[in-house]
This record gives sequence, C-alpha cells and structure tokens, in this order.
Amino acid sequence: SQFETLKIEDRGPARILSISRPKALNALNPTVIAELSRAIEALGQQIEGGDWSIRGLILTGDHPKSFVAGADIASMADMDKDQAMEFASQGHAVGEMLANLPIPVIAAVNGFALGGGCELALACDFIIASEKAKFGQPEVKLGVIPGFGGTQRLSRRVGAARALELCVTGDMIRADEALRIGLVNRVVAPEALLDTCAGIVGMVAKMGPLAVKEAKRVIHQGAELPLPAANQIEVEAFAALFDTQDQSEGMRAFLDKREAEFSAK
Ligand code: HXC
Repeated sequence: SQFETLKIEDRGPARILSISRPKALNALNPTVIAELSRAIEALGQQIEGGDWSIRGLILTGDHPKSFVAGADIASMADMDKDQAMEFASQGHAVGEMLANLPIPVIAAVNGFALGGGCELALACDFIIASEKAKFGQPEVKLGVIPGFGGTQRLSRRVGAARALELCVTGDMIRADEALRIGLVNRVVAPEALLDTCAGIVGMVAKMGPLAVKEAKRVIHQGAELPLPAANQIEVEAFAALFDTQDQSEGMRAFLDKREAEFSAK
C-alpha cells in the first residue's frame, strides 16, 4: 500500500480509512497525521475533479479494541514548545480537511477513543460507536490538555460542563454514557459497526450530491454564526441549488413518481 499506517478499502460508495498502528493501539504519531492528510486531500481532489463515486468517508481503527488511543505519547514526550505547536496545528489541519470534504465523514469508533482519538472522532461529522467503545480526554494525567480540538469540539457537542468534567478528571466513559450525553449518534454491536456506517453512506448515495455537500457546509458554517446570519447562509444555499440540474431532476422525478438520477451538476 502507499501508506504505512492506514488501510483503505472502498465498500460501494463508502471509503473506509482504517488507522493501523496495532503495536501502539493506533496512537497518532506524525506519520499517521501526515498520511491522514494525504488520504483526505486525495479524496477531496477526486471529488472536486467531478468523480462522485465515493459519497461518504468512514474513519475507523484497525484493532480489535482500539479506535485511536490518543496522540503517540512516545513521540510527544521530548517535544519542545514549538514542536508541540506544530503537532497540534497539524492535527487541527486534519480536522479542517474533514470538515471541508463535500461528503459526510463518519467516525466508526470500535474501541478506545482517547485523547487525540476522541478528538479525531469529534472532527468527523458524527460518531457511530460499537458497544465496546470507550471515550475520554486523559491528557491531564500526562500534565497537558487536549490539543486536537478536544476542549472546543467536545464542549460544543456535549456542553461545557460535561466537557469540562471529562477534561479535568481524565475519566473514561462507555458507549452508553457517550450516547446519553450526545457525544455519539448511535451505539451498535461491534460486528455491526462497519455495516451500519456503510448503510448510512448507502442512503446518502441515493441523495443529490450537491445538496448533501451544501447541507454539510451550511450546518458547519452556521454553527460559527449568530442565528440570523446562519439562517441567511441557509437561504442563499437553498436558492443556489435551484441553479442545479440535480434540483430539477430531483423534483421532476418526484412528480413523475420515479427514482431521481442525480448528476452532481
Ligand atoms: C503511545 C501507546 C498509547 C499512546 C497505548 N500505547 N496508548 N503508545 N501513545 N497514546 C501503547 C502502550 O504503550 C503499549 O505498548 C501498547 O500500546 C498497548 O497498550 P497497553 O497500555 O498495554 O494496553 P491496555 O493495558 O489495554 O491499556 C489501554 C489504554 C492505555 C487504557 C488505552 O494504553 C492508555 O492509557 N494509553 C494512553 C492513553 C492516553 O493517555 N491517551 C492520550 C494521549 S495525549 P507496549 O510497547 O508496552 O506494548 C493526547 C494529546 C492529543 O492524545 C493532542 C495532541 C496535540
């Protein structure tokens, strides 16, 4: 493969990226971060180039008990301040690339999602968890804090008070608790995890690609804005879609009582 720490598999319209550093429970070292960036960038370019064969990205961990057990502590131990800044920035860049992909990104959390692993899952559009998943931000045990967006995305997902409790105690929570606080969308049996995620991508694949792209973009951009400005972004995107063939095809197909054939144009 072209990657040392990633496995790539396409299942119908779903691309599955599995992080694979089994000896370290898939901990994120600079190589994993760089390879994730490359793989995500390549997918983004493929779609921007007009190839919409992939309609959803699934991120998972290639390990029976771990999604990602955090940033790699061995590679962080001797970092100085500048190197830590660089490493954290590269992790954030991956998060931005995931947010900017024009297709939904699902974290399929199969086991430990700790520290940078929980943060990587949070950088995906939503999380589907196996019953065996465990989440936590244990950085305080190491004398640091989350650096790949954990303090910010976790707060926005579950509220500041719950995020703060996790970030200051370093405590791990199980999948059922993660579901209860809204950190994950669904919890499924371990053996059903990838099928569930691929099934979601299969549903997305029947929808208008440009509409899906705009729904994701508007939701993310709107989250940064006061409601009136956010609503205005929605109105503009809604209207702009009326300049697409997908809108005429989608509505015509409904009226003709047939399945739409979208062209992403
Ligand atoms: C490096 C790690 C690792 C990590 C596990 N390993 N997590 N190596 N970085 N984050 C390695 C172990 O050292 C061990 O290697 C092997 O993986 C198996 O782990 P064990 O500890 O033996 O497994 P187990 O007893 O089942 O415990 C699992 C665990 C524990 C609870 C997940 O490994 C653990 O607490 N890991 C650290 C979790 C953590 O603190 N993550 C946050 C990191 S800070 P050997 O060679 O001994 O077999 C962070 C910051 C993000 O993520 C922001 C950066 C900018």
